[in-house]
Amino acid sequence: MIDDHLLAPDRPPAALPGHPVGPDVVILAAGESTRMCSKIPKVLHSLAGRPLIEYSVRLAETISPKRPIVVVGRNADLLQAHIGNRALYALQEQRLGTGHAVLQARPLLLGQSHCVLVFYADMPLVTVDSMQELLALHARNQAAGGVLTMLTFVSDNPRGFGRIARSPAGDVVAIVEEADCTTEQLRITELNPGLYCYDADWLWRSLDDIALSPKGEYYLTDLVAMAVSQGRLVLAHQVSDPVEMLGINTRVHLAEAEATLRARINRRWMEAGVTFVDPSTTYVDDTVVIGRDTVLLPGVHLRGQSRIGDDCRIGPDTTVVDTAIGAGCCVQYAVLEGAVLEDHVDVGPFAHLRKGAHLATGVHMGNFGEIKNAHLGPGVKMGHFSYIGDATIGQDVNIGAGAITCNYDGSRKQHTTIGDNAFIGSDTMLVAPVTIGAGARTGAGSVVTHDVPPGQLALGVPARVRPSSEAHGE
Ligand code: UD1
Ligand code: CA
Repeated sequence: MIDDHLLAPDRPPAALPGHPVGPDVVILAAGESTRMCSKIPKVLHSLAGRPLIEYSVRLAETISPKRPIVVVGRNADLLQAHIGNRALYALQEQRLGTGHAVLQARPLLLGQSHCVLVFYADMPLVTVDSMQELLALHARNQAAGGVLTMLTFVSDNPRGFGRIARSPAGDVVAIVEEADCTTEQLRITELNPGLYCYDADWLWRSLDDIALSPKGEYYLTDLVAMAVSQGRLVLAHQVSDPVEMLGINTRVHLAEAEATLRARINRRWMEAGVTFVDPSTTYVDDTVVIGRDTVLLPGVHLRGQSRIGDDCRIGPDTTVVDTAIGAGCCVQYAVLEGAVLEDHVDVGPFAHLRKGAHLATGVHMGNFGEIKNAHLGPGVKMGHFSYIGDATIGQDVNIGAGAITCNYDGSRKQHTTIGDNAFIGSDTMLVAPVTIGAGARTGAGSVVTHDVPPGQLALGVPARVRPSSEAHGE
């Protein structure tokens, strides 16, 4: 239901001369988040790979060219560290309610624009479309002398939200906080999600007139009844999808929002050409990018700044964190963290790639291997049970089953270098620092403590280089 009996045409919110077009945006984030029972501020809890506050700031950035004002409280330092100069900050020293919180933004915004948009930082699911509808309705409302426009939604589960009181004629007359509701008002199913557009002059004038609630707070929601009592029209646009309006107060709400967002993200990638064999067990952060015709099997987690190319097959049961994967790669039952895979790399089952692992085109890394801070050249084969750490490995090197770089001497990490086409025999211990020359070979079970020249064979414990006439087999 839209209150659309105003006939003025849609037009964008007006700007004062010298200011960019678009509303001023105020995001309230100074609450204490007591209901989260957490040491961390509520708005820094993570949702699909981003802190909650990030969703509000991104929404503000999409709908207005102006930097939003974030109202912060005791959490000021932590929030500023996350958002930086993408926002301006107003400090609410005492937590005296949402009306008092908006008041803290007044010195920064007085005389800046005609329209101020206020919303709470704990609503990560609001869509740009709903925001645009609010702004469009507000433009019409303001043109007709109205001062306040808001969104509402209908739900049978009131979750403690303020109730929208309407007159018999259907006009919004007040928002009543749940604690102050009569038994009859408690039954109202139209709820206040907490997104409002105000006429700027009226807002900055009226905030001082909000009375202290019995709970000792200044409620922003009281402005509705105040506007109505002054004969100013309050319009509301009812959003059709109540899920969008979910405000997060508890960890139960956080999990509900995560499920909703996950479904949205998965859908977005399916529509872009990615196959999800089982979307309900596939977890993709909002920050991840996936190429076309890639197939994600059940139990896949793609997190952080990960980038997956076209035509890959990932999973089942694979976690990829901050890792770049090229085209045509196959990764199964693996954990990849801070790694780079070029094209047509094949990893797993049961592999662990750690920070700085770089696998060039065509590398094959099979069962039970671990790679850390090492560059494997094109075509390297490492089939079974190996650990490669702090190493540079040339192209087409064969690393036999169980070969290991002994990179830690008890106090420092040491480097191993292996030249192109070398052949590392099964169970070779490469005691770093050590260099194996191009085309060199090591025998099975050798412990290599000294460099092996190119084309030579080293054997034994400790390994010794054999004359080339003896060079045969591993
Ligand atoms: C608020 C609304 C309620 C609405 C609900 C929707 C009021 C009085 N009530 O209730 O009608 O249905 O949101 O989710 O506004 N904050 C501050 N400073 C304060 C208090 C709060 O910055 O002094 C911030 C919080 O960080 C939070 C937001 O304002 O982001 C809302 O506060 P919260 O305590 O969650 O309000 P609700 O009780 O949920
Ligand atoms: Ca809330």
